[in-house]
This record gives sequence, C-alpha cells and structure tokens, in this order.
Amino acid sequence: MNKNKSYHPDTLAVRDGVNRSPFDETAEALYLTSGYVYGSAQEAADAFSGDIDRFVYSRYGNPTVTMLQERMALLEGAEACRMTASGMAAVFATMASLLKTGDRVVASRALFGACHAILTHILPQWGIQTELVDGTDLSAWEAALSAPAQMVFVETPSNPLLELVDLEAVTELAHKAGALMVVDNVFATPLGQNPMKYGADLVVYSATKHIDGHGRVLGGAILGAAELVDEVIFKFLCRTGPSISPFNAWVLLKSLESLSLRVDRMAATASHIATYIEQNCPDITVRYPWLESHPQYALAKKQMHHGSNVIALELPGGQAACFRFLDALNVIDISNNLGDAKSLICHPFTTTHSNLDAKDRALLGITEGHIRLSVGLEHGGDLIDDLMTGYTALKA
Ligand SMILES: Cc1ncc(COP(=O)(O)O)c(C=O)c1O
Repeated sequence: MNKNKSYHPDTLAVRDGVNRSPFDETAEALYLTSGYVYGSAQEAADAFSGDIDRFVYSRYGNPTVTMLQERMALLEGAEACRMTASGMAAVFATMASLLKTGDRVVASRALFGACHAILTHILPQWGIQTELVDGTDLSAWEAALSAPAQMVFVETPSNPLLELVDLEAVTELAHKAGALMVVDNVFATPLGQNPMKYGADLVVYSATKHIDGHGRVLGGAILGAAELVDEVIFKFLCRTGPSISPFNAWVLLKSLESLSLRVDRMAATASHIATYIEQNCPDITVRYPWLESHPQYALAKKQMHHGSNVIALELPGGQAACFRFLDALNVIDISNNLGDAKSLICHPFTTTHSNLDAKDRALLGITEGHIRLSVGLEHGGDLIDDLMTGYTALKA
C-alpha cells in the first residue's frame, strides 16, 4: 500500500500490515514458530545486542503477530499496538507496567468482573490506591480527580448495563489530575468509537469478542503512543510472557477483514430488535445506547458511531422469569461470551457478575431481572421470533 495515502478503515482492515514471504502468498502467512535460526554465531550476537533488527524469539516478536499489530494500530489511529494472550492480559499488563506502590487509580465502577477484581483486590495488595466512581456522573469524576492520580480506567459502554462515560470530559479531567486515560473499548469496537480522538492515552481490547467474532480464540490488544506501548508496556510483556500465540494472531488478522461488515450488520440488527422490544413488550425495560430512552442517548450519539450489538433487558419476575425466558429460546444460545456471529444471551446476576458482592452489584444496578443479549449475524426476523418465544414463556 502507498504509505503516503490515507485509506478508509475498511481498506486498512483488509490490506494493512501485509508482509508477504518470498512465496508471494495471497493470504497472510501463519508463522507458527517459537524460535528463529541464525546464519552465524555473529548474527545471533548482533541480534541480541540490538545491532541488527530481526526476530529472535516469539515471546518478543513474530511476523504474523507483527502483521496483526500493524493492522490494529492503523485501524485505531494509534502509533503502536501490542497484542496479548487475552483481554485480561492486556488490561493487567497496562496497569502493572505503568503503576507502582503509592500511585492512585480512579475508575468507573461499572466494569467487567475481572477488571473490577484487579482494581479492588490485586492493585490494593501492592499499595496502589484505587477509587471507583459512578462513571455517568461528571461531578463524581470532578471530585475524585481533584486530587492527583496516575491512571483513569473506564469501560464505555459498560458490561452489562451499557452505561457510558463521557470520553471528552473525563479525559480532560484525567489529564488535569496528571493521570493517563485508559479506555476499555470492547463493547464499541475500534470501528464504533475512537477514544483517542478525545485524547485517550491508551485503548485496550479483548480481541476475543468482536475482533475474532466467531468464538474461536482468545486475544487482547493495547494501543497508544509508542513511548508507552513499545517502551514501557512491551518490556513488561516480553519479560512476563502473556504473548499471543501466532496461530491466534493469524485467526484475528483474517477476522479483521470482515470486522466492519459484521459489526455494522450486528449493530443494525440490535437497533432493530431493541426498538421492536421497546414498542411491543411494555413490561420489559430496554437499555440500548442508540434508543432515545437511554439516559445518555445524546452522549451515545456524540461519541459512538453505532449503538453496539449488545442490548440489556430487565424482565419482570426476577431470576425465575429470566431462566424461563432463556430456556425457551431455540436460536439464541445461552453463553457469557459476546461479539460473536452467533447471538448469545446470559443472566449476568448468576454468571458474569455473580462474583461481585451484593453491595457492589446493587451499586451497579444489576438485578436478578437483567439479561444481556449480544446480537449476532442471524436474520433479525428470526431473532425477534425467538425472543418472542422467550417472552411468551415469561408469562407462563
Ligand atoms: C469489557 C471487557 N473487558 C475485558 C474482558 C476480558 O477479555 P478476555 O476474556 O479476552 O480476557 C472482557 C471479557 O468479557 C470484557 O467484556
């Protein structure tokens, strides 16, 4: 590709980062190798001293992983990207490499369970102070960031109730407090929201979700300025070892080619379903960022390019009713994953958020009546019929 020309993300997702071998293959090559050989002992010595730049070991670098990192960085508009073995490895490495004893982190409290556990259990054990705030409340951010902090961590939209954080306002407050702004952008995807446009320093992903999109492999990504990602975080990653497998990187690289088609279609179907349920099932409360009834609809329209493929529903009748609803479905699978081509549904109270104590769950507003639907690529009409089967069972 012409490096001096700017291409549309749809083109970058298919073309960027390609590094063909001497065989000139069409599809990106899978370099399934842990190590590399040297033509001479001197070449090995030069590689280790840094006099020559080449692959030495796949914990540090691998040609297939490099192709994926380059493609991801261009899609995000970031200077650098490092892939990791999972989304949690990306989140943890970002925090563990940039924070030290005595530092302070402020985060939105509506977080994926394992991120919540890192902030409330692991970092405090190392003398890092963490404060969780209501991410939707700007005055709570102002109060928490009136004292210096080293990192702000947010997830927007949040899992499972799709709460939003105002990226522009909170990034400004974070920077005033001296903190790096880190955004978990999983629910929006790189195509649905661009936190760096608002000044975010780092963006992290569970590539396991929409980026794979077919429920096959785990992966994570950390994106941002080279001085953070390559100089600090990469050193931590290659010494501690949460490297992505070249095979997983290859699967993700090929999946990026269809990311925009998949995410556009899933978000359009999700929007249609959310509207349908809101109009036809008056006893179900629907939460979807691009529905006017979402409490932060204006913000969703400002900072998101689509409403996401995830819908939160609150059903009357609590856990028993939710279980009847889920068990009646014939197309949509019961699963705690999301972003998949297959529509997936779960009951967060008893699965993804069951490890939170009752107080934290209540603060997040997650009740026994909530279900989370990740809309896939099936036909919208079939999905609505399936959901209406669940709705009928709800009344049983
Ligand atoms: C918002 C969010 N962040 C991080 C993760 C962790 O990703 P992984 O399961 O790839 O470790 C998840 C997984 O569900 C998630 O939903």
